[in-house]
Amino acid sequence: MKALPSSQKRSSFCLYIISLCFVVVVVLLYSEDFTCLLRQSLLKLQADLPEDSEHQLTLIAEEKDLEVPFAVRRSDKRCDLFGGRWTYEKETRPHYQEEECPYIQPQLTCQAHGRPDTEYQHWRWQPHDCDLPNFNATFMLEKLRGKRMMFVGDSLNRGQFVSLEFKATVEFYWAPFLVESNSDNAIVHRVKDRIVRTGSINKHARHWKGSDIIVFNTYLWWMTGQKMRILRGPFDGEMRNITEMVTEDAYRLALTRMMRWVEQNMDPHKSRVFFTSMSPCHERSVEWGGAVGGNCYGETMPIENPQYWGICSSRSIMRVVGSVFSRRKAAFPVTVLNITQLSNYRKDAHTSIYKKQWSKPTPEQIADPKTYADCVHWCLPGLQDTWNELLYAKLFFP
Ligand SMILES: *[C@@H]1O[C@H](CO)[C@@H](O)[C@H](O)[C@H]1NC(C)=O
Ligand SMILES: *[C@@H]1O[C@H](CO)[C@@H](O)[C@H](O)[C@H]1NC(C)=O
Ligand SMILES: *[C@@H]1O[C@H](CO)[C@@H](O)[C@H](O)[C@H]1NC(C)=O
Repeated sequence: MKALPSSQKRSSFCLYIISLCFVVVVVLLYSEDFTCLLRQSLLKLQADLPEDSEHQLTLIAEEKDLEVPFAVRRSDKRCDLFGGRWTYEKETRPHYQEEECPYIQPQLTCQAHGRPDTEYQHWRWQPHDCDLPNFNATFMLEKLRGKRMMFVGDSLNRGQFVSLEFKATVEFYWAPFLVESNSDNAIVHRVKDRIVRTGSINKHARHWKGSDIIVFNTYLWWMTGQKMRILRGPFDGEMRNITEMVTEDAYRLALTRMMRWVEQNMDPHKSRVFFTSMSPCHERSVEWGGAVGGNCYGETMPIENPQYWGICSSRSIMRVVGSVFSRRKAAFPVTVLNITQLSNYRKDAHTSIYKKQWSKPTPEQIADPKTYADCVHWCLPGLQDTWNELLYAKLFFP
């Protein structure tokens, strides 16, 4: 960071997603390339952005706020950061260029894989009643110096990690159900018949101990049907005691187990825990008034209907999230990053066919591209940078 100009007014760093499917726990990156990249995006931002920041949160300084770990100032409580609209920003978005960020996994680099449009990179989230704080990478790295931040969950949470001169580490831990499951192997996890042990978390959680900030997510892998298969007893036995449970009930047990671990293992005066709500998909264009048989393929604009809510975002799962984490007197308050609605509008932001494919598309698929479009994952730069801006806001300006 020494090489960075000291005068930059705003900065942001490249938020990127690890490509390494074989990484189980952590890879610490200590790389010249990354510092170089960070410098690039800082310089670029410095050139691009106006000096005075117009999008400041209304901040109320309160003595009490300092009780929230990492909080700098308290934001106006009445403002819901997750209710708002997308505004097109030709100049100020994206924060970085795809090619400046060599660590974005090839499943997410849409431009490199031939995506013809770039508008999807230029949308900024504007909450209705306030503004998001400006993302300042230098500030964030200073605050996280010597700290350990971890993203725990599935491929949608496979987050950025950083290790710089600042000795901040950001790590990703693969645990698609949070609790123990037969899909936990970071390489071979595409099992047909998913089985979870809702009460068992320590196999994973022992690796999370000592984290100062944890961002959890889990959703996609639960969506296999109405019921989940639950195992009592260990996976290494004969696995005779497998029962079925309504998915919502199993999901609630897993979140409750996670909460209990947090309460027993983390200190609310020193650490923060976030939970990212369901990431939506766009598999059926009839849902937003498009052609029958279509999906996200070919979509270049967000959905404008403020009421839009896609079928992939289970409302009953959302209710479970709400009830588990909204307990007023929880021993450990968890901050929900409610990204579901704002992401629901973004039918344009998926990787679609512009990504590294697991297997080569067949001639039939190539003739009809929507048949192999990925309408679950998101291009970077893109929507998930906004999730990180929201995390930044909730972390420092709760
Ligand atoms: C970003 O953070 C750094 C370090 O705290 C600070 O010196 C700088 O003024 C900040 N930039 C803006 C635009 O607030
Ligand atoms: C299976 O698990 C249930 C619930 O824990 C328990 O009540 C039951 O006795 C177990 N059955 C066997 C055969 O172990
Ligand atoms: C998240 O936001 C949606 C709509 O914006 C709302 O219906 C839901 O209750 C919220 N969930 C939580 C857990 O805050």
